[in-house]
This record gives sequence, structure tokens and C-alpha cells, in this order.
Amino acid sequence: MGWTYCVIWCLCLSVSECWQPPNSEPVMQGELQSPQYPRPYPPNLLTQWDIWVPEGYQIQLSITHLDIKASSGCNQDSLTVLHEQKVLGKFCGQENSADHPGKEPILSPGNTLTLIFQTNDSTPELQQHIGFSATYKAIDIDECSQSDPGDGSGPLCTQICVNTPGSYHCSCYTGYKLHLDQHTCLSSCDGCIYDKREGHLASPAYPHPSPPFLSCKYIISVEPSFTITLNFTDNFHIDNVDTEQGPRCLHHWLQVSTPGREPMKLCGGKSPGLIATNSNTVRLDYHTDAEGLSRGWSLDYSTHVVDCGEPEPLLNGGVTYLSGSQNQYHSVVQYHCNEPFYTLPGGRNVTFTCEADGKWRSNHSDVTPTCVSVCGQPTKLISTYQRTIASSEGPDSKIPWHVLLNIDGRIAGGMVIADRWIMTAAHTLTHDRKPISKETVQIYMGPINAKTLLGSPVSAASIHIHPEYNNPDFLDYNSDIALIKLQDPITFNSSVMPICLPAEGATYVTDTIGLVSGFTITEPDNQRILTNDLKYVHLLVVEQETCSNSVNKLKETMDNVPDLTNNMFCAGVPEGGKDSCHGDSGGPFALRDDGRFWAAGIVSWGVGCRNQGTYGVYTRVANYLDWIYKTMQEN
Ligand SMILES: *[C@@H]1O[C@H](CO)[C@@H](O)[C@H](O)[C@H]1NC(C)=O
Ligand SMILES: *[C@@H]1O[C@H](CO)[C@@H](O)[C@H](O)[C@H]1NC(C)=O
Ligand SMILES: *[C@@H]1O[C@H](CO)[C@@H](O)[C@H](O)[C@H]1NC(C)=O
Ligand SMILES: *[C@@H]1O[C@H](CO)[C@@H](O)[C@H](O)[C@H]1NC(C)=O
Ligand SMILES: *[C@@H]1O[C@H](CO)[C@@H](O)[C@H](O)[C@H]1NC(C)=O
Repeated sequence: MGWTYCVIWCLCLSVSECWQPPNSEPVMQGELQSPQYPRPYPPNLLTQWDIWVPEGYQIQLSITHLDIKASSGCNQDSLTVLHEQKVLGKFCGQENSADHPGKEPILSPGNTLTLIFQTNDSTPELQQHIGFSATYKAIDIDECSQSDPGDGSGPLCTQICVNTPGSYHCSCYTGYKLHLDQHTCLSSCDGCIYDKREGHLASPAYPHPSPPFLSCKYIISVEPSFTITLNFTDNFHIDNVDTEQGPRCLHHWLQVSTPGREPMKLCGGKSPGLIATNSNTVRLDYHTDAEGLSRGWSLDYSTHVVDCGEPEPLLNGGVTYLSGSQNQYHSVVQYHCNEPFYTLPGGRNVTFTCEADGKWRSNHSDVTPTCVSVCGQPTKLISTYQRTIASSEGPDSKIPWHVLLNIDGRIAGGMVIADRWIMTAAHTLTHDRKPISKETVQIYMGPINAKTLLGSPVSAASIHIHPEYNNPDFLDYNSDIALIKLQDPITFNSSVMPICLPAEGATYVTDTIGLVSGFTITEPDNQRILTNDLKYVHLLVVEQETCSNSVNKLKETMDNVPDLTNNMFCAGVPEGGKDSCHGDSGGPFALRDDGRFWAAGIVSWGVGCRNQGTYGVYTRVANYLDWIYKTMQEN
């Protein structure tokens, strides 16, 4: 007998998870007794009872009679009561002994209970103790009265908990419904997705006032090629609170959110009317609490196809359609500049895509690019070693930045540095110690015949002489630099192009070849004459000391020789003679770096053209960059 019990017990011990309710129907109550009860129990026993009742119940065990041989700690004969391997009590002795549980029933924490009755075989004399007798019954658990388990899952039910025999269920207040999780109460407005191209939404209970404690979420989501417009009806009322900062949506609000934009919180008594969201998804969150009262709102929404409209035109460039129906969602256009005179910063073509919010965008930016002019890169070749002005005809304006200034009949030179700006020498724009008026200046550019001056000159909008230029006696050419702002911007082409300004910290390396252009040439007899067509000559940058010595030497023999300052530099050829010295006053002296010509100098003054050891003197433009940029920016 004892062996049978032991086999079951040992099997179960060896596979600790093996215990399963027997296949029989669970019982609601029962009775247990030790083997042979009420006769004395046999030695060497190990008997186990597994009791189970339906889920949702606990087991209440009452020991009605106890007579087990007493031993210290009940470690010889005992009755042990366990729930899932947790010992609830271990008993031996007689009723009213210290080890006896008394009349208090034992309550299992779950719906199973195990009893183990164990006896020792070492007692040779006849056993007189009769064991135990117990009853048990299933007790309904009141799940609802159990406190929040505190594991973050919250109470069993978010609103109402109803206890039932063996179980419980959750229930919700009016206006709410139980979620599929059988636990959460949702207001019936939650989680709706509207995916039709038109629709109607209203606050819960509309046109009646909204219930408190709403947390409604509505999502309108249509195909990406459409944008959603909300049209609120006039009946709009969401409680707001007057604060010192004005009305605030404190307790109730309707929040309208679209991706990538700041959400909009609505409340008050005035209908927002139409809201064009420029998005194909809109989320509305309607919130109320116990404070205040909102009469609610209602709206119709509609959708229309995204249309980005004509892309912004690009000055000195253009737009080409690459794909998609014109101006509609996902259409792609490409901006390009009129090369080689203009280029996009970075030199790349830029593509813009029509996005869901009806805007053309390139790499998240909706700013139309600007074409910047290319400077100092003539499209027609300038021959490098042509030195003699007289034989270097430039009929096609191979020096496309050179301009001719006609100042009340006097001819001077200048250079284009930006689409509205000409740079020249200050002394060409002063007369009788005063700046000349802008009306007396006519500016010719492109292919020019200097003698006939046919064609249409452009006019000056303003004249800016360097503030430090002060040359009443023609002896002080320091800061001989001036800017002319044009009335209209120039569109550049192969015959009119700007020259680059010097780079920050540009250097004037002795003996580098520069290019000087002009319409005036100097004859061997030092007579200066005007030619029909633009001429140019290559001259070398002269070391400052060499030039300074040359000027000082002249001063020994001549009066009225101006001073040479560090704002000037000299150019020429050391041997003088057949090579000319300079072109028109105000004209450009260009140096070339990395294939780009830059405005190194402005033709300023000179003594004894064509003589050996004398040079032309030029304004050192690199010293005036700050003033040039400031003047162009402020005017
Ligand atoms: C039985 O009792 C003897 C003597 O008290 C003890 O040594 C032995 O360990 C007991 N056996 C069991 C199985 O408890
Ligand atoms: C907005 O809705 C009103 C009716 O509430 C209607 O008369 C009006 O035409 C709608 N506006 C638009 C742009 O759909
Ligand atoms: C830019 O686009 C124009 C016109 O589509 C094309 O001719 C040119 O080659 C493109 N340039 C570059 C650098 O992609
Ligand atoms: C897009 O813009 C980011 C930052 O504005 C820039 O780092 C990235 O290089 C740009 N990508 C292209 C393809 O222009
Ligand atoms: C270049 O531009 C100038 C000034 O705008 C103009 O007079 C000239 O005709 C143009 N030349 C060509 C080839 O387009």
C-alpha cells in the first residue's frame, strides 16, 4: 500500500513541473483521512493528496481531527500542507498540542493544495496514533477587492469591477465601451481612422454637450497625393478659461496635428471655419475633464489633389520637368543656370519634388536656388603672349569685363564686378575737386566702337567714391577707387562678364603677368590716342621697391610727381620702350589664378609712359575689399 503512494510521489518530485490536475472534474468540497483512519496508521508511509478546485476559487482546509505521533519539529511523523511547493503548515501531535493548528482553517492562496502524510518505520512497537481527518471546500475569490498588484498593470478594471463566483469581469460607465482586452474602458470616440476622401466627424454626443473625461483620438488618413481640408460648422463650443494672458484651452481642447508641424489647440466659442492642413494625414485629439462644459463641435472634411503650382522661375536659369504630371504630387523639376555665365552654388543641378503639402522641395528645403554669375572666365581665348597694344585687337570683347565710361565727353575705363556694379578709379569720377553727377556718366559694355559710341549706354544709379580719396592737386592718388551702381542689372553673356574680386589675402607676386585693357593707346611720341576697338597688353607686376626707386628718381628731375603708397603697385616691363604702359584710367589690371582672372588693379597714374625704368601705377584693389563689399551691401 505504502509503495503505491510512494511511486506517485517520487515521480512527481523528479519532474517538478509535472503536477497537473487529474483528468477528473474539479470538485467543490471533500474530505481526507490518513490511511486506515480511524485505526492506527501504518509505519513507513509517504502519502500525498493533490486537491484542486476551479480557477477563481481558493481552497479552505479544516483539520477536524489530529493524532500524529509527536516529535521535535514533527520530523518523524507529520502532515504537511503545501501550495505549489510552499509549505503552509507541518503538523503532528494531538489536538490541543502546540503543533496543532487549532480550529483555524488553512486557506490556500490558489486553487490547488497538496497534503503529504509521512510516517517513520523506526518505531518497532505497535503504533497507537490514528492520524488525521480533514475537510476542504472551494471558496470564491473576490478579485475586485484585491488591491492593485503594483506591477504597473494598474487595477484589474479601469472603471467598474464585478465579482462573480469563481471569476470577475470589468464594466464601463455610460459613454464608454470595454476594449477587447476586457480591462480598459474606451470612450466610444477613440481610435477611429477615417480613410475616405470625404467625411464627417463630431464630438461624442453632439449636438449635446460632451461627456467629461474624454480622451478621443480621430485620425484622417488619405492617399499621399491628396491634402485634407477641415470645415468646422458654426456650432462650435469648447470650454476655455480666461487667464491674465487671455483665453486658454486649460481643461478642454481639440488639438489638430499634422506631421512635421506644431499642433494647433482649439477652444472657445468661435468656429475655426476652414483649416487647410496641407497634409494627407491629420490627427484630432479631443480632451475634456470634469471642469467646465463643452457643447461640442462638428466638421466635414474634404480632400483635393496636391498641386504645387508653377515652380518659381529662376533668374538667369531655367526649370525642366523631369517626371510626374505637371506640378502635381511627386512631380520632379530640375533647376539649371545659364551656363557658362551662371552657375548654381556648388555647381550642381538641383531637383525639386512636389510634396504632399503642396510645396516644391529639394532636400527638405523649399528655397528656390539662385544662379550666381561666373567671374573671370572669358569664353573666348585671350592670347597669353600678345604684348603690343597696337596689334592686339579685341573686336569681340575678349576682355568681357572691360567697360567704357563716357563722362561728359571724357573717356575712361572701368570693369564689371557684379551684375549691378562697375569698379573704376576715383579720379575719373571727380571734376574740379568734386564728384561728378551720376547723370553725366554713360556706361558702354560689350562690343564697343569707342569713336562712334553707337549702341545704348547704361546709366548709373549712384556713384561711390572712396571716402579717403582726396586729390585736389593731382599729387595724391591714394585710395583711387570708386564704384558705380547701375540702374538695371546686367545679364551676362559671352561679351559681358564680371571679373572676380581679389580673394581674401591675395598676393601680388613680382613678375607675374597681368592683363591691362583699354581704348587709349600711347604713341611713341607720348601722344595718347583713342582707338576704335579695345586693345590689351600683358605687363608684369613690378617689385614695390623697384617702383619706389623709380618714382623717387623721377622726383629728382621733375616737379609734381605723386607719392607712391602701399595702396598702389606698379606694372610694366623693365626695359620700357616698345611696350606700352597703361590703358584707360580706371581700367582693369587683371591677374589670373586657377584659370580665373581677378581684379588686381585699377589704372591710376603714371609718369613718362614708355620710358625705360618707368611704370604704370595701379590701385591695389586687395586693400579695399572691405570697403567694396560694404558699399555693395549697403547700396
Ligand atoms: C526515523 O526516526 C529515527 C530515530 O528518531 C531517525 O534517525 C530517522 O532519521 C527517522 N527516519 C525518517 C525517515 O525520518
Ligand atoms: C463648409 O461648410 C459649410 C456648411 O457648414 C458650407 O456651406 C461651405 O460651403 C463649406 N465650405 C467649403 C469650402 O467646403
Ligand atoms: C544640368 O541640367 C542641364 C539641363 O537639364 C544639363 O544640360 C546639364 O548637363 C546639367 N548639368 C549637370 C552638372 O548635371
Ligand atoms: C541635404 O542637406 C543636408 C543638410 O542641410 C546636407 O548635409 C546634405 O549634404 C544635403 N544633401 C544633398 C544631396 O544635397
Ligand atoms: C550681351 O549683353 C550686352 C549687355 O546686356 C548686350 O548689349 C549684348 O548684345 C549681348 N551680347 C550677346 C551676344 O548677347
